[in-house]
Amino acid sequence: MRTLVIYFSYSGNNRLLAESLAKQMECDACPIIEKKRRTMLTIILDMIFKRNPKIEPLPHTVSDYDHLILVAPIWDSKIANPMKSLLRREKESLPAYSFISLCGYERAGQNESILEQLSVLTGQAPKAVCELKICELFPPEQREQIKTISRFRVNSEDLVKFEMPINEFLKLINAVQ
Ligand SMILES: Cc1cc2nc3c(=O)[nH]c(=O)nc-3n(C[C@H](O)[C@H](O)[C@H](O)COP(=O)(O)O)c2cc1C
Repeated sequence: MRTLVIYFSYSGNNRLLAESLAKQMECDACPIIEKKRRTMLTIILDMIFKRNPKIEPLPHTVSDYDHLILVAPIWDSKIANPMKSLLRREKESLPAYSFISLCGYERAGQNESILEQLSVLTGQAPKAVCELKICELFPPEQREQIKTISRFRVNSEDLVKFEMPINEFLKLINAVQ
């Protein structure tokens, strides 16, 4: 099975995750590159106005692959807008895919919402969806500290703590092929 990891990351967490997945899977990985510089302000504006930011063409042809692993942050319970731009653009040639995110918090209904967004955007359900919640790296009494968690930069030691859900996600992908 030919797999391609496609990722978007603003502050580096999802890049680290994507690079680690690509290494584990021994497959290609490529970032989504935006035409304009991303800032915290443009994240907020994209969230409010549901904007569709312009992105550069990918260096890979998605239809050359059997499966895509899409990796992106969650902003306001939504898939980060640059990943949505990619899915809108590639919808017609998209192979089977799965989605995984190093996101922030425990949010009621977020997983179902991600599933719904993906299905609407692509016209096909993902094979697997996985949220790795940074708040779980914190003691229970700190898990609602939005600022601390949204500014937290994950390192490779933190990533090891998500080994179990990551392996379950990868098993699911392989099982459904
Ligand atoms: C403006 C903003 C909104 C966010 N909203 C959510 C959210 O609704 N749910 C969630 O789980 N995480 C949320 N997060 C946390 C990010 O998804 C998390 O910090 C992620 O790891 C950042 O990924 P990156 O470093 O690859 O850009 C938000 C972060 C920011 C900056």
